[in-house]
Amino acid sequence: MSKELDRVRDAWETLGTSDPYWAVLTEHEFHDGQAKTRFFDSGRAEIRSLLDILDKFRRPYGDTAVDFGCGVGRLSFALAEHFENVTGVDVARSMIEEARASNPFPDRVRFVHNDAATLPFDDDSVDLVISVITLQHIRPALTLRYLLEMARIVRPGGHLLFQIPSHIPAVRPIPPWHSKAELRVLEAPSSLEVGENSYIRVGVTNLSDGEWPRGQLLNAGNHWRRNGLMVIQDDGRDSVRCPLRPGEQTEALIRVKAPTEPGSYELEVDVVQESVAWWADRGSQPVQVPVEVRSPAAAPAGDDSAPEAAPAAPATIGAMEMHGVRKDLVCSLFEQIGCTVLEAAPDERAGSDWASYLYAIEVGEYRVDVNHGV
Ligand SMILES: C[S@@+](CC[C@H](N)C(=O)[O-])C[C@H]1O[C@@H](n2cnc3c(N)ncnc32)[C@H](O)[C@@H]1O
Repeated sequence: MSKELDRVRDAWETLGTSDPYWAVLTEHEFHDGQAKTRFFDSGRAEIRSLLDILDKFRRPYGDTAVDFGCGVGRLSFALAEHFENVTGVDVARSMIEEARASNPFPDRVRFVHNDAATLPFDDDSVDLVISVITLQHIRPALTLRYLLEMARIVRPGGHLLFQIPSHIPAVRPIPPWHSKAELRVLEAPSSLEVGENSYIRVGVTNLSDGEWPRGQLLNAGNHWRRNGLMVIQDDGRDSVRCPLRPGEQTEALIRVKAPTEPGSYELEVDVVQESVAWWADRGSQPVQVPVEVRSPAAAPAGDDSAPEAAPAAPATIGAMEMHGVRKDLVCSLFEQIGCTVLEAAPDERAGSDWASYLYAIEVGEYRVDVNHGV
């Protein structure tokens, strides 16, 4: 197995072990396996919208479906309402175990752990492969291999339905007179050990009279100050979900890392448009909370409890890197191997900073066997 796959597997293994449902859908309500009904209902809606594409093109579904990057089975279970046999494939054993444990269709849905760059299926053996919010976390060279593998395992006339971000569109600076935010601290640590990771949850309201558009790299980020003086500029980040109209609000959960010197600090949160400006420099009001940073020896003996009032989020939120493969490359890859791109429709799954697409591919006769050549 490649080092790249080792890295991907280890990152997801950690996420799957600590908070698998939230790692799949990073909404606050899904922490610690809460709101499972809503979680799995969202999978049904997702599968309905994917299969609507096949309906639109009047294409049959077939019997056998594969869910690549299945996580805890959100989409695999929903696929079982339309397909006789479903296989969920995932790089993380922890995800696969969770999916198996709650499988309502053990006779028809199976889950397979796979940490190879190939897919464990025979040529032409399935009717449909789906994959959403998965390839966006995999580096492009590996994604391209998986796409060829998906085309290999689907029979001619079968389909692939998958989503991949393409690129980050050019950023247009938000004008200074629209760079006005109200920030409210919703949850924050009051005390941390030196170098410890934690989270601060903030509410962000658009106080200006202009819309903050999507795709403009708008983040909430933090600094550390001591007696008002900046000691660490640029620590954690979380995106501000846009578009956000005047008066509208959203939330951000920023992973912060305590300074390495003990002492009394101000943890400051501001809005930043990446490569453009921190908004405090434009007159917007950042927000601060006092945080006591202590040396490890200062912790009371035997006290291994979480820091007071720290939001309950796993320590791996920042590990979800995002990657894109240009739409032109995806389309020409499939055309080159004799497949038909039925549709490449703009899609919102990768968040507001990315141009992302949902692809519907019909598999043709001529394909490349990545293991054995053409
Ligand atoms: C954000 S979750 C999405 C899960 C599922 N697609 C859904 O929408 O409910 C991404 C999943 O992809 C899996 N994954 C990441 N890289 C993978 C790879 N190389 N092969 C298989 N699964 C992978 C992760 O372990 C994780 O479970």
